[in-house]
Amino acid sequence: MAQPVTRGGVPIGYRRDDAEVDPPYLHPNYVATRTRAPKRPLVPLRHTLSEITGPVYGHEDVGELDHDLTRQHEGEPLGERIILHGRVLDGDQRPVRNTLIELWQANAAGRYRHEVDTHPAPLDPNFSGAGRCITDDEGRYRFITIKPGAYPWRNHPNAWRAAHIHLSLFGTAFATRLVTQMYFPGDPLFFQDPIFLAVRDERDRRRLISEFDLGSTVPEWALAYRFDIVLRGREATPVED
Ligand SMILES: [Fe+2]
Repeated sequence: MAQPVTRGGVPIGYRRDDAEVDPPYLHPNYVATRTRAPKRPLVPLRHTLSEITGPVYGHEDVGELDHDLTRQHEGEPLGERIILHGRVLDGDQRPVRNTLIELWQANAAGRYRHEVDTHPAPLDPNFSGAGRCITDDEGRYRFITIKPGAYPWRNHPNAWRAAHIHLSLFGTAFATRLVTQMYFPGDPLFFQDPIFLAVRDERDRRRLISEFDLGSTVPEWALAYRFDIVLRGREATPVED
């Protein structure tokens, strides 16, 4: 049953970012934030009805192979095939159903299919590096892809990004939109990656690292990683009635 969006005529907003957990807008070691970060304190506004009710994306636009980045071209991409799966929950532990997840990543050699990527590593004609899927009734999602390579990014001398996959989730409303990055366990580059280190608490950083999931591997075919994602809960816990 649909959850109420107002109480006493006032929209029930979503919880605000946790300033202790989320990375600060200005993290000087991540050089781009020096010019990108707001210079003045933010002014929180009450969520409006349009932010808490839209947009809603349906199944229609997602193709059958959009979740499988290894089957979008004539041949298979080079690299280590992996399964990436998990659940999307909200801050009240409810599954976020029927929500769009988009993913983008470098290929196995650490190169994006993008015109501004000049890393001298090969492009793979069989890998675009973008996929999407919709969560099921339990909030589950599953992608098949290849493990991305590390890449250099000139943030500081000899700077390399830890291998990562970018994720975008729409959730149930604009106010729950989340864009994040997922990492792989045991990466040797964590210690010098200012984007990863912008999340200040070690326990919070660990939540950005997927878990190797032997139980979900497919024998003789692909290893699996699990990454659960929590979107904002409502300011007032909604009651289904
Ligand atoms: Fe990236």
